Amino acid sequence: MNERTQPDENAAATAVTPLFEPRDLDRLRQALAGYRVESVHDLLGPAGQSAHARGDLAGVGRHVRRSDDRPLATLIDLFLLGTDVPEADARAALSPLPLETAHGAGLLEVSAGAVRARLDVRPYAEALPARPGSPSAAAETWWVVSDFGSDVRPGPLAPDHVLGIGSASVTLAQATPRVPVGRALDLGTGCGIQALHLGRHARQVVGTDISARALRLAATTAALSDQTWDLRRGSLLSPVAGEQFDLVVANPPFVVSAGTGGYDYRDSGLEGDGVCRELFTGLPSVLAPGGTAQLLANWIIPTDQSWQERLAGWLDGLGCDAWVWQREVVEPGEYVSMWLRDAGEAPGSPRWTSLYGAWLDWFAASAVVGVGMGLVTLWRSDAADPVLVMEDVPQAVEQPVGGHLPGWIERQRWLAATPDEQLRTARVRAADGLVRSTDDLLGADGWAPAITRLRQSYGMRWEVEVDDSIASLVAGCDGATPLFAPITVLAASLDVPVAEVADAVLPVVRDLIGRGFLRPEDGL
Ligand SMILES: C[S@@+](CC[C@H](N)C(=O)[O-])C[C@H]1O[C@@H](n2cnc3c(N)ncnc32)[C@H](O)[C@@H]1O
Repeated sequence: MNERTQPDENAAATAVTPLFEPRDLDRLRQALAGYRVESVHDLLGPAGQSAHARGDLAGVGRHVRRSDDRPLATLIDLFLLGTDVPEADARAALSPLPLETAHGAGLLEVSAGAVRARLDVRPYAEALPARPGSPSAAAETWWVVSDFGSDVRPGPLAPDHVLGIGSASVTLAQATPRVPVGRALDLGTGCGIQALHLGRHARQVVGTDISARALRLAATTAALSDQTWDLRRGSLLSPVAGEQFDLVVANPPFVVSAGTGGYDYRDSGLEGDGVCRELFTGLPSVLAPGGTAQLLANWIIPTDQSWQERLAGWLDGLGCDAWVWQREVVEPGEYVSMWLRDAGEAPGSPRWTSLYGAWLDWFAASAVVGVGMGLVTLWRSDAADPVLVMEDVPQAVEQPVGGHLPGWIERQRWLAATPDEQLRTARVRAADGLVRSTDDLLGADGWAPAITRLRQSYGMRWEVEVDDSIASLVAGCDGATPLFAPITVLAASLDVPVAEVADAVLPVVRDLIGRGFLRPEDGL
């Protein structure tokens, strides 16, 4: 564990306060009222937005400085781009919050007539799922407080760096099912992005972090965004030991290393993928019956075992159903470069070379061939024989994908409880939006169909190779007739006994139901 941020024994009980007292928070909220997701979007225009999306801050700055909306342009310059602005502009943009108060709270620094933000403060809103036929609901704006990344303040990050909204944060937020729950936990809350989302659908939100600094920034995020969270300091599950939650989300410090790295935001202090093992095995103890836990994780791919075997060992006997998505696998060199860059290290510098070498030596000595990166969802079922699926999910799923997870686990449980004799008589419907495509291969006799695929246009966007018989069977699943009807039609067309066809297609049908190509009409 990182010495620097080791919490004291009573730390969990110490109240966490925002950077400002209530009256000044009100003033800051007033100053930020026009600094919203839509207004920043409008000010940047299409070219500025695309510069922002590709991380071209200089390009964004050119659009900002052309704007007539001085207060908004100044807030973007200060808090999104980290640019120095004239003191008079900053004073006007932050009114009614006195500049001196903002300085005293550590939000910015003033020197020689110029003002520079010390923290990243950005408007953020939930991406609500588009529902066909209904107008999209307007999401409320939140304000998220964090440190600036190394794109804005170059050079190695500080050890107590508080991460802002990054692609991993958004990935987790989009994968979380947004169904109403009682108690929710955001473990390793950082700037508070996950807790903000939880605040929309959980009766109570608890946020924990090992870093006192992160908790202060999270408290400020909550206060600016008009939310109330129970924030506690401590490591992993210790601040919530003995409690139960209906939903737990965690974007933990999962970076795989020797365990000697010193960054709060990415280094757990545990060697290898120890932090993920601790969380996998510990999370069920804080899940209420039927509760869900979701975490982003990185796991080692050893030389002598598959990643699935390794993770299955951790998930065994927990009383939880589990779905593990391996989104990507990277080899050690790429992994180390990615994280050194993330921490603001300059490629080729002596410091880079030394850190890179030591990290790769550890990988080699630990017989690790790669690192799997993904998402783990656990559902406490207390089943004797829980559902356990670990698979590669490399495709671009429809976002936000979280809404598709409850249906997946329901279908898996239905499949587990439905023997083949019952499956034959089940009424099953082909999902909406399926696409069939066929690739033709040029041979001696000209073009001939070679590969047929079924693809989902929505949701998980699975694509599976099937033969024409299965594609026809799927088309025949109308939800009204039992499955044996299209199987009988298929058997007749192939001139093969029905029982033989059923034996061959039922395992495929099971897979198609699991992936959501086919939906049972009864009992779900
Ligand atoms: C990758 S950041 C995630 C921040 C935020 N939840 C998000 O989704 O962007 C990991 C967070 O975990 C915190 N952390 C690091 N070690 C921890 C530990 N042992 N127990 C609890 N939190 C820890 C860090 O301070 C940091 O805020």
